[in-house]
Amino acid sequence: MCGIVGYIGKRNAVDVMLQGLSKLEYRGYDSSGIAIVAGGDVLVNKAEGKLVNLQNKIDGMGLESRIGIGHTRWATHGRPSDYNAHPHTSQNGKFAVVHNGIVENYLRLKETYLADEVFTSETDTEVVAHLLEKFYNGSFEETVIKVLDVLEGAYALVMICADEPDKIIACRKDSPMVLGVGDGESFIASDVPALLAYTRECMYIEQGELCVLTQDGITIKNHNLEVIEKEVHTIEWDAEAAEKDGYEHFMLKEIFEQPTVFKKTIAGRIHNNQVQFDFDLSEAQVNSWNKIYIVACGTAYHAGLVGKTIIEKLARIPVEVEIASEFRYREPMMDEHTLVIVISQSGETADTVAALREARNNGCKVLAITNVVGSAIARESDYVVYIWAGPEISVASTKAYTTMLIAEYLLGVYLAQQKGMDNAELRADILNSLQALPEVAEKMLSEEYLARIQSAADSYKDANDIFFIGRGLDWAIALEGSLKLKEISYIHAEAYAAGELKHGTLALVTDETPVIAICVQESTYDKIASNIKEVKAREANVLAIINDGDEETHKFVDETIAIPRIHNFVAPVLAVIPLQLISYYTAKVRGCEIDQPRNLAKSVTVE
Ligand code: F6R
Repeated sequence: MCGIVGYIGKRNAVDVMLQGLSKLEYRGYDSSGIAIVAGGDVLVNKAEGKLVNLQNKIDGMGLESRIGIGHTRWATHGRPSDYNAHPHTSQNGKFAVVHNGIVENYLRLKETYLADEVFTSETDTEVVAHLLEKFYNGSFEETVIKVLDVLEGAYALVMICADEPDKIIACRKDSPMVLGVGDGESFIASDVPALLAYTRECMYIEQGELCVLTQDGITIKNHNLEVIEKEVHTIEWDAEAAEKDGYEHFMLKEIFEQPTVFKKTIAGRIHNNQVQFDFDLSEAQVNSWNKIYIVACGTAYHAGLVGKTIIEKLARIPVEVEIASEFRYREPMMDEHTLVIVISQSGETADTVAALREARNNGCKVLAITNVVGSAIARESDYVVYIWAGPEISVASTKAYTTMLIAEYLLGVYLAQQKGMDNAELRADILNSLQALPEVAEKMLSEEYLARIQSAADSYKDANDIFFIGRGLDWAIALEGSLKLKEISYIHAEAYAAGELKHGTLALVTDETPVIAICVQESTYDKIASNIKEVKAREANVLAIINDGDEETHKFVDETIAIPRIHNFVAPVLAVIPLQLISYYTAKVRGCEIDQPRNLAKSVTVE
């Protein structure tokens, strides 16, 4: 949600901000803006729509400054527009603020402190700029602390002041922010890709800390303005990893990266048919858990549904999978005998972070499956399994989903092994199959394969509704396939446990409702075959995702797409790939904005 970039140093801040914001557009893209200090004044430029509109607007203006803050917005309070775009300024124009998050008490703050002031936007953020002016006592730092004392909600705030043009001040609560350490320059951003062109040295900011960025370096202070020492981390991602690399869209690039990132997820974790992580769980510890909750949102939640089957089958611990935004509002039963697994690509999803905290407050241990080192979820969990998928820029998650599944297989095997379960042979089979996955997936993504999928996608161009059906693990994959299609092609799609169709939804199936049936799980093959016949009897056109060598299914469906044969339990990792590609090509043929679908953002840091 919203991307922030701030810069102070020897370069032109305008260039650094535009470059950085272009790497953060996936976080929000309904408007953007920058503020610099020039000639003793704060100058602000903003534009509705994509960042290119801002670029066009300021092109030729000759804007130049050594200090600036910029923002790309995903609207929460106030519709997308020039006037609601950030940065927002104080009434006297001396303070400018960019913000990611929500100031929950902004209406009360307006009434209490700013009743006579004129506001130029509908945003919660403008209140912060006005409060800075109101509380200013000649010390920018002290004033920010005073403002923070009255704010409620979530925020990453980055601020400048015309009267103190040698510093940027930033702070965060429940919204992500990373600092970039340079030589004679300092950076701040919502996410690492904005920094990579300039520095790999970064620092993470904890809740409530105040960061003062100057040309000479970054100082972190606590609430009493005492200096805190911080470790500098080196980012391993290179800048190219966050570029399109010749692909038309990030989504396609990320689908194609899967074989490579599968290797990274597995690397160093399998030794002699045993799984190792960076942490050790004793037999007693694992046996102390009589229940596991998996809590996540969206695609990560779908990964959790596969995780339930994996862990229950391998480690025989009951697992409940919960949508994070629902979890904490229903008083879940958990205590020190419950392990809570949170899954999140970004590691910053507000609802998942909140669920994690709720779990810890109830005495649970929390294990995170995440992609982002240093994210809130990674920092606040007891144990972390990184998926090592590298930067995922496309809003529609692909490689993060499949690597979450791989992490879950590894975790399932690990829990079973630490418990001393009597299923060493099954575990070894699964580990061997995981190790084979990169090569198998690589071979699968041939030109010919893509052409078949593209032609299937062409036939969905004018569809209004598409059904995805499956059973067991195939149903979990169907759910992910349908979400992917909805979010990027804007075609309504529903995923159904195929046996459930006849209890109501079958009424919707006609010759105008294409059905995509996942027929990969052998244990339920006969069942899904019958369910397919039910929809065929209603004249639906059926595309089936099958295992290579399946000679049966093509006899009663319209089209098949095969996945390579692999241990059936691990097959979901491959079975979802054609579904990702169907969504991609359907969205493409419909002319949709694939990497930045309407109304969505990559990192959802508001509840
Ligand atoms: C869909 C998608 C979202 C995310 C969800 C959770 O393609 O990407 O549904 O999965 O917003 O995000 P993370 O995994 O960052 O917690």
